[in-house]
Amino acid sequence: MCGIVAYIGTKPAQPIILEGLKRLEYRGYDSAGIAVLSVPSGSKTGQVKVVKKAGRIANLEAELKNVAPAGLPGTLGMAHTRWATHGGVTDLNAHPHRDDKAGICVIHNGIIENYAALKTYLQEKGHRFISETDTEVLTMLIGELYEGDLEAAVQAALREVTGAYAICVMCENEPDTLVVARKGAPLMVGIGAGEYIVASDASAIIAHTTQAFPLDDYNVVKITRQGFRTSTTSNIAVNPKVMQLELDLEEIELGTYEHFMQKEIFEQPQSLRNTFRGRLQKDDGKVVLGGVSNFAKELVRAKRVILTGQGTALHAAMIGEYMLEDLAKVPAVAEYASEFRYRNPIIEDQTVVVAVSQSGETADTLAALTEAKERGALSLGVVNVVGSSIARETDAGVYLRVGPEIGVASTKAFTGQVAVLAMLTLFMARRRHMSTDACTRLIEDLESIPGKIERILEQDAAIKKVAERYCERENWLFLGRGYNYPTALEGALKLKEISYIHAEGMPAAEMKHGPIALINDGMPAVFIANRGRQYDKVMSNIAEVRARGGHVIAIATEGDKEIKKAAEDVIFIPDIAEQLSPMLTVIPMQLIAYHAAVLRGHDVDKPRNLAKSVTVE
Ligand code: F6R
Repeated sequence: MCGIVAYIGTKPAQPIILEGLKRLEYRGYDSAGIAVLSVPSGSKTGQVKVVKKAGRIANLEAELKNVAPAGLPGTLGMAHTRWATHGGVTDLNAHPHRDDKAGICVIHNGIIENYAALKTYLQEKGHRFISETDTEVLTMLIGELYEGDLEAAVQAALREVTGAYAICVMCENEPDTLVVARKGAPLMVGIGAGEYIVASDASAIIAHTTQAFPLDDYNVVKITRQGFRTSTTSNIAVNPKVMQLELDLEEIELGTYEHFMQKEIFEQPQSLRNTFRGRLQKDDGKVVLGGVSNFAKELVRAKRVILTGQGTALHAAMIGEYMLEDLAKVPAVAEYASEFRYRNPIIEDQTVVVAVSQSGETADTLAALTEAKERGALSLGVVNVVGSSIARETDAGVYLRVGPEIGVASTKAFTGQVAVLAMLTLFMARRRHMSTDACTRLIEDLESIPGKIERILEQDAAIKKVAERYCERENWLFLGRGYNYPTALEGALKLKEISYIHAEGMPAAEMKHGPIALINDGMPAVFIANRGRQYDKVMSNIAEVRARGGHVIAIATEGDKEIKKAAEDVIFIPDIAEQLSPMLTVIPMQLIAYHAAVLRGHDVDKPRNLAKSVTVE
């Protein structure tokens, strides 16, 4: 979603905020803009210069070279990448926006839901709009309410709006002030030496300082070069919690890889070692999860677990559902957060809701979580980004610890989510009924996963050849059963989101109930056919597809001799307990999707229309 960076200090703002903006490119965007405030000598007020362009940041840089070859002067500025919601992708609709009266300039992430009514009110007051955006309405509203105090005008305006926002605001009359605020969209303030850098996430801050604080909903921060003050939109003072950012600059740089997605696929052995570190106690047959240990009793007594998320996170949640019922023997269900929230769900006593999210900022998941909490559920987070909204909103949780995920297509977060859900399952299972031996065996399997993924990654060149053979085909099927039905959904999602190939994932048995009609000569069908309870059934489904001319790409267990006769292409994975197999079976599908997209000439880290973190419902 939109990226926000702002700077106030003593250094030239433009290079700092442009560099920050590039670090936020991964969030997905379709236009970019910058505004810098400079103060002419002898003047008490400033002048804001705005440059904005549809398209990539490179377009903005080219435009900047035209209009200000030496750079925009000034030590206060803001920059933005826009992911269009209201109004098309045009230069005019790009941020920053300016008002027509008070020298106000705004960048915004989120949606102002009552913008239409506010716009009518402002038009009646004589304001003239030049864009189609909700953000310009908010900008004009702040300008309308401005009476010489920017902080007060922002607070007053925000009391009038409904919707979601993370905003940065500056004003020509107050050249030493930056006001920022948040509700429902992420924003944090980095504290440097005599300078502050505000951004939608830590990756744009870390090069400058490791001290930062995230804003809570309805927080407004007035920042000057001398310090800052945090309050609510009703002007009640707030004490923000300053934290140490743990991000390492190297983690957000490409290194020797061509794409972040590729880097993150190959990072999975290490990212999972980090996920497991200190949490698996093989000798005692125990899993230690500090983040939920205070709620062990509630988890033992839980009568139902509802897992929720969107996209890849939902696929991980579905695997969690299977594991919790199968191993911890607790009724569980996984559900799209966007559906859960609006269907008036019944939450009985002793229900636990688990919100699964890489970013911790997905608006649908956050809204579902709020709904579940209001109805009395204990809420847990399975989240990657430390200090994110979902991490803060939940009663307890377990972090993924897979490091920053920059590639828009989620990869290492998926295996991290499944790994955490497996550990949560064992945490509950051991306290409910599972024997030490049974748990120890599964812990051994968990510990073996990083090494086994390394062995699959060694087959990258062979997997690329499979992608080469089929990447021109426009329709693919991904089929699996049991634990690997959600993995089939994930394989299809990976392929479609970065290669733009139409792909459908489904339970292998479902194919006969309609989709089999799609199979024509040479249609690629990826079957997850690892050893497990339903292996024979999957083999029958493979035969059905082959009989109709489909080309089968099978993901099978090492040592399986039958599969070679049944499928055109086979990618082998090491043997593993069926319940944990999705962490292995997904790897070849991530690689197929990656190579197919690159072979088709797409930028896999910036897929069209997609945003990394979807902060609007
Ligand atoms: C797919 C993908 C998305 C996200 C979904 C939820 O590759 O990245 O489907 O999984 O938008 O995002 P988080 O996990 O941040 O809540």
